[in-house]
Amino acid sequence: MTPGAVPTGSPPPVDTRFAAIDQRRLRSGYGVKWGSLAPDVIGAWVADMDFGVPPAVRESILRVTGREDFGYPFWPGADPVVEAFQDRMAARHGWQPEPGRTRVFTDLIQVLQVMVEHATAPGDGIAVHVPCYPPFLASIARSGRRIVPLPMLWSESGWGFSTDDLVDRLHRAGCRMLVLVNPHNPTGRVFTRDELTALAMAADALDLVVLADEIHADLVFAPHRHVPFASLGASTAARTITATSATKAFNIAGLRCAVAHVGPDHVQDRLARAPLDYFGTPSILSRVATVAAWRESDGWLDDLLRTLDHNRLLVQQWAAGLPWDLRHHAPQATYLSWLDLSATPIRDPEPAAHLERTVAVKLSEGAEFAQATPVDTGSFVRLNFATSPANLHEILARIAAL
Ligand SMILES: Cc1ncc(COP(=O)(O)O)c(C=O)c1O
Repeated sequence: MTPGAVPTGSPPPVDTRFAAIDQRRLRSGYGVKWGSLAPDVIGAWVADMDFGVPPAVRESILRVTGREDFGYPFWPGADPVVEAFQDRMAARHGWQPEPGRTRVFTDLIQVLQVMVEHATAPGDGIAVHVPCYPPFLASIARSGRRIVPLPMLWSESGWGFSTDDLVDRLHRAGCRMLVLVNPHNPTGRVFTRDELTALAMAADALDLVVLADEIHADLVFAPHRHVPFASLGASTAARTITATSATKAFNIAGLRCAVAHVGPDHVQDRLARAPLDYFGTPSILSRVATVAAWRESDGWLDDLLRTLDHNRLLVQQWAAGLPWDLRHHAPQATYLSWLDLSATPIRDPEPAAHLERTVAVKLSEGAEFAQATPVDTGSFVRLNFATSPANLHEILARIAAL
């Protein structure tokens, strides 16, 4: 099919466990996505899914709860989270992490903050694709480092970025680090091996540390394939910190457990000298849930991916049928759609706030994804479509009624 073309026909079938959501459960819980909203507003913003969790994850948490095992964690021998991560990367993504280089963290934002502190100095440039997951931009700006935007560019065939003069641009901007979010949030791009190789060559030329956030790697739609950045070759692996968690694909973001595989020796050495209490401690619950997700939940993940695939096509077909051009491309991964509302009648500088007020749907505000940079994403919103098809239909109908 031509890139950018909208597929016709029925989207893939939806498994029954994802066909309906329980709005009463969601609204009465402690989750910010629904709990923080007025009763008539539908939440399609923060990156949690409206579904439950895989059965093995639920059982692992119930087992720990049954034992009232809520103390400080201890495992004799190897850390099961680290082993599960290593095995999963090898089996699912064709990359064998090097033993002894993986650390457990509470979350990816903590990984970013720790790595920025240990791999760069105040005033250094840090390159990152923009738009970008907002807390990363906020954290880099707050650390006294300079954000060097690699703007994501729209074309008829999809989102991309320019590799022209890349080394020169990054050199002139005084870059010491590249933060690579792949698959990319919010455009949903899965970067190709060629794109990643261009970035790896620039990183080699400038001796950059690369922080590869691959948190969405398990949420890729065929025929796209995730290529771990560290798998590109030995010199790339030696400069790459790979950060990930089970939180996005298995819907356990609130549990807080993540890992980082640290390729650069000098960063490993600096981290080894930091006191243990500096890193935070993921709870027993978050650890057993992560292991159950990575080791025992791929059947659930397959069913989830079929549902998300169904929903992303619904969004694409909906966007193509609107009287306005949303410049929308179906994401190649994630459950997020990046929509440009500049051709709609909305003239509000905060289009997501406008939609919440007028049609009672809460999306994420596009401007936040370019904060602290000169890139203008003020006319964009991000839609989270990880919900039942029926709820998604309601969301899309409300937006179309603008
Ligand atoms: C690209 C990306 N990285 C990191 C995170 C958040 O990770 P954590 O909650 O572990 O800090 C998100 C959350 O949506 C994300 O989209």
